[in-house]
Amino acid sequence: MTDSKPALRPARVGVIGAGNVGSTLARRILELDLADVVLLDVIPGRTQGLALDLNQAQAILGGNVQVIGTESYQDLNHVDLIVITAGFPRKPGMSREDLLKINGELVQSITLKALAQAPQACLIVVTNPLDVMTHLAWQVSGLPKPRVMGMGGVLDSARFARFTATALGISARDIRAMVLGAHGDLMVPLPQYTTVHGIPLTALLPAAEIQALVARTRNGGAEIVNLLKSGSAYFAPAAATAEMIAAILGDQQRIMPASVVLAGEYGIADICMGVPIKLGAAGVSQILELNLSDDQQTALQASAASIGENIALLRNILEPEMV
Ligand SMILES: NC(=O)c1ccc[n+]([C@@H]2O[C@H](COP(=O)([O-])OP(=O)(O)OC[C@H]3O[C@@H](n4cnc5c(N)ncnc54)[C@H](O)[C@@H]3O)[C@@H](O)[C@H]2O)c1
Repeated sequence: MTDSKPALRPARVGVIGAGNVGSTLARRILELDLADVVLLDVIPGRTQGLALDLNQAQAILGGNVQVIGTESYQDLNHVDLIVITAGFPRKPGMSREDLLKINGELVQSITLKALAQAPQACLIVVTNPLDVMTHLAWQVSGLPKPRVMGMGGVLDSARFARFTATALGISARDIRAMVLGAHGDLMVPLPQYTTVHGIPLTALLPAAEIQALVARTRNGGAEIVNLLKSGSAYFAPAAATAEMIAAILGDQQRIMPASVVLAGEYGIADICMGVPIKLGAAGVSQILELNLSDDQQTALQASAASIGENIALLRNILEPEMV
C-alpha cells in the first residue's frame, strides 16, 4: 500500500555560535524532536564534531531530527528560524563600549549573512547585551518587527519561578512568573502577575520576602557567573530559547515575555525591551500591555532609558548607516 501524502520535511533551525548556549540549545532541540539544526561556528571542525556526538545521542534517545555542523552560511539556505548565540562575555578590563563593539560587529555581520540565505526566517537573538543586540539585528536585517525577538524574559521568569518555588516549598511547575524590562540589572519582576496556579504571589508571601526574591532574580545571572568562575549560564538559557522556538514552529500562540521592538507600548518607542508577547508561526502577533504600579512603570522607564543609551553608544561605534 502506498501513502499518497508527500513526506513532511522537519522544520530547520539555524543556530549560530556553538559555544555553551548554542551547543546546549542544539541538544535541547534534538531532545524535544523539534527541528533539524544547522549549527554554525567559526572554529573549524567544532560543529561537525558536536553534530556527530549529538546525532549519536539521538540514536539512543530516539527522534527523527538531526544536527548538521558547518562553518558555511550556505547551509542555512531556507532555514525556518535563525538563533544568534555567537558572542563574547565581558572580560576583566573590558569596558561596556568594548563589549558593545565586539558583539555589535559580530551580530551585524552574522545577521546579514544569515538573512541572505533565509530571508523568510524569524530571528531570535541571545547574544548580550540582549536588548541592544536584538535592536541592532532588527535594524540591519530589515525584517518586519514581529519576526525579530530577543530571549531574556523567559529565562528571567524561570529564575523568578525557581526562587519562588523554593521559598514556598512547592513545585516550580505550578508557577507562572512574569519579568519585564531590560535583560540585566534593571529588569522588572512583576509579583502581582506571578501566580501559583492562578493565585497571585502577593497573596502568598509578605512583601519583604517577595522583594528578596525579586533582588535574587535581578542578580540571577551574576550569581551563576560568580560560582562558575569562567563562562555564564547555559542550561536554562538554552531551555528558554527552545521554548520560544517551539512556540514559533508549532504556531502555539504562547504568552511569554521577550525583547521586541516597541512602538509606543508602555509609553516606550524605538528600542527593544522585554514585554509580554503572543508568539506563533508569524512571530510576535501581539504585545500585551499590563497595568503596572507607579513604581513598576518608573522602573520600566529606567530600563528603557539604559537600553536607549546603549543603542546610542553602539550607533556611534558602528557604521552610522548600519544602526
Ligand atoms: N540572553 C540571555 O539570556 C543569555 C544567556 C546566556 C548567555 N547569553 C549570551 O550568549 C552569548 C554566548 O554565550 P556562551 O556561553 O554560549 O558563550 P561561548 O563563549 O561558550 O560561545 C560563543 C561561541 O560563539 C562563537 N563565535 C564567535 N564568533 C563567531 C562568529 N562570527 N560566527 C559564529 N560563531 C562565532 C565562538 O566560537 C563560540 O563557540 C554571550 O553573548 C552571552 O552573554 C545570553
